[in-house]
Amino acid sequence: MKRILVTGGTGFIGSHTVVELQQHGYEVIIVDNLVNSSIEVLDNIAKITGIKPSFEQFDLADPAKTADFFNRNKDLSGIIHFAAYKAVGESMQKPLEYYRNNIGSLLNILEGMKTCALGDIVFSSSCTVYGQPDELPVTEQAPIKPAWSPYGNTKQMCEEILRFSAASLPIKAIALRYFNPIGAHESALIGELPLGIPNNLVPYITQTAIGLRQSLHVFGNDYDTPDGTAMRDYIHVVDIARAHVVAIGRMINKRMKHNMEIFNLGTGHGFSVLEVIQSFERVSGLKLNYKIVDRRPGDIEKVWASTDFANKELGWKAEKKIDEMMTSAWKWEKALADRKGQQ
Ligand code: WQD
Repeated sequence: MKRILVTGGTGFIGSHTVVELQQHGYEVIIVDNLVNSSIEVLDNIAKITGIKPSFEQFDLADPAKTADFFNRNKDLSGIIHFAAYKAVGESMQKPLEYYRNNIGSLLNILEGMKTCALGDIVFSSSCTVYGQPDELPVTEQAPIKPAWSPYGNTKQMCEEILRFSAASLPIKAIALRYFNPIGAHESALIGELPLGIPNNLVPYITQTAIGLRQSLHVFGNDYDTPDGTAMRDYIHVVDIARAHVVAIGRMINKRMKHNMEIFNLGTGHGFSVLEVIQSFERVSGLKLNYKIVDRRPGDIEKVWASTDFANKELGWKAEKKIDEMMTSAWKWEKALADRKGQQ
């Protein structure tokens, strides 16, 4: 059984990817420092798949601990690297922590890969590297624009580190640029674990509907879009997770055509904030309490993916539609409330 290291595997996208990997016959070991997730995720993964993943808790930004891990794990077939700080707004306040953590962790992992002659890494990147594209849908060949945040800059820098490492070291890398991952596993056993006030739209919608938040603030309705609110390419987290299984399989089966490959993970369709709200109201039967306020500094106006390359080259396509995404997000929020009620 091929063994895959999933860093950040107790996080939102990481946990959904672990479920898909196990269900596709891979053995998984998770490394996570649990600063942004909780250890119960391991049991909830086991409730879904029947297999509790191996787990080690330490900080991948620690060179000695990471080197020690790789010295003890020389049988890995691949790595999927999620572990990173990922809050755009927080990164504006704490740039040095973001560079040290996000860049340092990747460098320690690449050093570790040399130790155990491991050559395959899938990297969690983001459409944020594009900034506001000049043309839509945005393709993988679109110019990378100056980052709007240290978070986005670390994603750009990590892609460049992988590109040069893959050119000179015995390493192959696939960078997956997520658009806006939302929703939750249909079991409602894993999902986006909210720590504090959500930055992202969908958890804020469901927390408002469940009564944790007073009302949703819609950040601007004066954009150049059909209803004036900003547009994004929302994609179900399970579709994102399945793309990682395809990517790691491509590497392990030596189907890559270049030492570094980059793929957009989106649906190819943009939805406005109001359309997402309308989808939520449709699937929940509730009226959402929201009001239009000023734009959020740093937000881009509209972005959605060109999916041709991922569809053709990876043979992967996002399947789930917006109403299914919002249904799963709402089911997850209600499950969280039930669990709190039981505590
Ligand atoms: C979506 C839309 C907001 C909250 C960020 C990162 C990206 C990725 C996903 C990590 C925007 C609007 C939001 C609210 C609102 N993160 N909004 N009221 O900013 O597109 O992407 O998260 O990988 O890298 O950049 O996602 O969910 O914050 O915002 O009106 O309370 O919803 O203005 O138009 P974003 P988001």
